[in-house]
Amino acid sequence: MLKIKNLSVKVENKTILNDFNLDINDGEVHVIMGPNGVGKSTLTKAIMNDPNYKVLNGDITFDGTSITDLTTDQRARMGLFLANQNPLEIDGVTNSDFLRTALSSKEGKNVNLYSFIKKIDAAVDDLHMPNEMVHRSVNKGFSGGEKKKNEILQMKMLEPKFVMFDEIDSGVDVDSLKIVGKNINEYKKANPKTSYLIITHYTHLLKYIKPDFVHVLMNGHIVKSGDYSLAKKIEENGFNFDKIVTVANDGCDNHE
Ligand SMILES: Nc1ncnc2c1ncn2[C@@H]1O[C@H](COP(=O)(O)OP(=O)(O)O)[C@@H](O)[C@H]1O
Ligand SMILES: [Mg+2]
Repeated sequence: MLKIKNLSVKVENKTILNDFNLDINDGEVHVIMGPNGVGKSTLTKAIMNDPNYKVLNGDITFDGTSITDLTTDQRARMGLFLANQNPLEIDGVTNSDFLRTALSSKEGKNVNLYSFIKKIDAAVDDLHMPNEMVHRSVNKGFSGGEKKKNEILQMKMLEPKFVMFDEIDSGVDVDSLKIVGKNINEYKKANPKTSYLIITHYTHLLKYIKPDFVHVLMNGHIVKSGDYSLAKKIEENGFNFDKIVTVANDGCDNHE
């Protein structure tokens, strides 16, 4: 579905991603972990073509088509979606108008108002969000956790094929995290071909959406890949790989 080849990305005057490679197939769940500031969010912004993140080299293809020269809205219409680490507030545009416009643009025709209301009401209920949030300006005055839920509302409404969650679990209380996790899990079941790129520091969310691969980003590219157990080891030991190797060997044959 998504292939990233030899990607280098510059932010301001710093090269953040350097020779970054990643292949994500239909239906796969990939997790990216890494210390603060290594470029995890930069990767998601480059995939969506945020103009602050300049691609110096490399190519991104989606369903076999190079998207490297496409605009953000073209990418979104193809089915790419980013739940931002710090969702933007858009004063004066209601959630409802925003989503109806986005959905109409994606479908290439005005969506029927009755079916739109039915869909958004159901999605808001699923997320245990107060219905009045639909009529408030996008994220304006929302708490950190409410903003994250609002990103999930956007996913449920726009039904993307490739979903990126950038620290969707940060700032979310325990009960809300359960709701977010359950909604993601249900979305995955209903859309088995959808693929995910999940950026997280913890394993909480991964109990709801099991990763196929866990990657560690450092020095501009992936330095280590594994399965769910790698995420658990990082949660316990941080990015101290010597220790991770020791822990991994604990359960194995003793080589000494
Ligand atoms: N818009 C920006 N302007 C200046 N520096 C930025 C910008 N975005 C990111 N950076 C810098 O680029 C580096 C990578 O940032 P980021 O991708 O957000 O890291 P991560 O998500 O892994 O914590 C950091 O040093 C950060 O300060
Ligand atoms: Mg980040």
